[in-house]
Amino acid sequence: MAVQIESSWRIRDVEIPTRIVLAPMAGVSVQAFRRQGRRFGAGLVCSEMVSCAGLSHGNERTLGYLRIGRDERPLAVQIFGSEPGVMAEAARMVEDAGADLVDINFGCPVRKVTKTGAGATLLEDPDRAGRIVSAVVEAVAVPVTVKMRRGLADGSRSALEVGPRLVAAGAASLTLHPRSARQMYTGIADHALTAELVELVDVPVVASGDVVSRERARVVLETTGAAAVMVGRAAQGNPWTIGEIAGRLDGRPPREEIVAELVIFMRATADELGEQRATGFLKKFYGWYLGRGRFPKPFKQELVRLETLAEVEARLLAAAPGAADVLARLEDDLPEEDDVLLDLPISAYGGG
Ligand SMILES: Cc1cc2nc3c(=O)[nH]c(=O)nc-3n(C[C@H](O)[C@H](O)[C@H](O)COP(=O)(O)O)c2cc1C
Repeated sequence: MAVQIESSWRIRDVEIPTRIVLAPMAGVSVQAFRRQGRRFGAGLVCSEMVSCAGLSHGNERTLGYLRIGRDERPLAVQIFGSEPGVMAEAARMVEDAGADLVDINFGCPVRKVTKTGAGATLLEDPDRAGRIVSAVVEAVAVPVTVKMRRGLADGSRSALEVGPRLVAAGAASLTLHPRSARQMYTGIADHALTAELVELVDVPVVASGDVVSRERARVVLETTGAAAVMVGRAAQGNPWTIGEIAGRLDGRPPREEIVAELVIFMRATADELGEQRATGFLKKFYGWYLGRGRFPKPFKQELVRLETLAEVEARLLAAAPGAADVLARLEDDLPEEDDVLLDLPISAYGGG
């Protein structure tokens, strides 16, 4: 029988209110993104990956430090690295900062990461992968989860070999993005492999890859037996997809709502990253929010050329009468912030 998308499930003692997990995406999953995902119906959100290498070297090129808040919970913080001891130390910091889950990245296909022995390369080194999971499980009381790709090479089935070993080492849940590292984001996610993994392990499996609608989420849950689906690219500049998958919205927001959400996102991101870094960071989001036929193309190009966020905001509000009222309403409803800064750097080289 198919699971209800709006029903709760558990990773050990962590209760997750819906079957929708917001994907960790480096360069995307800032706090504003995670908060927004929660508001629209994601049951669990995940930080982008933070680098354990930063702990021992302090010289990694980073995008700043991770900030988390109580209202994001349940929240997973994702760490990556290749040294069990260093990963364990990072996991303790993540737990101390208040994360509900420590997620380990065994999926990142980006060469800068894999050449250090971290990310997807660990799928070809099950012994080390197992040692990392054991060390992290030993270090923290919160559940430890792992996110994987299928393997390095096209057609690889490494995830099916490694997954059960990671569960034996103490992993409380596995997320599978069934593409190879080599594929990056080409081709399709082969969820037949997810179904095989579900059969092999007795922990909840999360299916990641190409979940873009409620219908697709339903099919993936039904055909794989996964406990939840993870949504990544479809949610970029598009929290309404999360609402649609949750069964709360039809996924076609009015313009004033699009502008209001974008402005809230911009303000929160400027708070988090600082005005200067946020100005560059946000440019890709203009296309994501305003594209999909929502606004004429030249509008985005006009925004990208503006120099300050204040100018972008003024232009946006002028383009959608009524947006200011929606914005005021949304801001009134936002939870109080009580953020904790985690002393772990966000890597500039993300991916999974
Ligand atoms: C820009 C971008 C950054 C990503 N960064 C991470 C990451 O830091 N950690 C991770 O485990 N996966 C990362 N991923 C992979 C996603 O979490 C997800 O597994 C993948 O995009 C497939 O899901 P989708 O088809 O819903 O996008 C990233 C994906 C994208 C597109």
